Amino acid sequence: MARRGNSIVKGIEIDEVISLLNRAYADEWLAYYQYYIEEKVVKGIMKDAAIAELRQHAADELRHADMVARRILQLGGTPLLNPKEWFVHTNCGYDEPKDFDVVAILEDAIRGEQCAISTYSELAELTRGRDIVTYDIVSEILGDEVEHEEDLQALHDDITEFVESIKSGMKRQ
Ligand SMILES: [Fe+2]
Ligand SMILES: [Fe+2]
Repeated sequence: MARRGNSIVKGIEIDEVISLLNRAYADEWLAYYQYYIEEKVVKGIMKDAAIAELRQHAADELRHADMVARRILQLGGTPLLNPKEWFVHTNCGYDEPKDFDVVAILEDAIRGEQCAISTYSELAELTRGRDIVTYDIVSEILGDEVEHEEDLQALHDDITEFVESIKSGMKRQ
């Protein structure tokens, strides 16, 4: 643990920061797995575009887990050591894909990103002016999660519009 590094954390308990980061850490692993498995089971129209997006997001969530774990260690904490604990500490839970249709998968993923945005914006609010290093990390991750939501929503809208255009074309015939 970096003693001088931790002495600059002010107005917030380090244990509280560690515990909140561990919750985010659980979320990142569950989000990673959700994308990992969704990318494999997804079916339907324009699924190749969805696969590319889901694969990229899986890589991003794993990178976020790494960033959060490193900060927990810097603060003198221990990242959750047992995957069973992910389900105990998670904010956003795990949305098991039940409907493999690309639109349903994208909707699940959008909900997950919206939860991640709430989690990281709360963490940013809490650490702003109190723990600059954590604030920088959670702000960077928050930017990625906002981009994730936007990318998924754009793809979702493209696919639903395309499906609608096919349906209305069929009606005209
Ligand atoms: Fe993430
Ligand atoms: Fe994300």
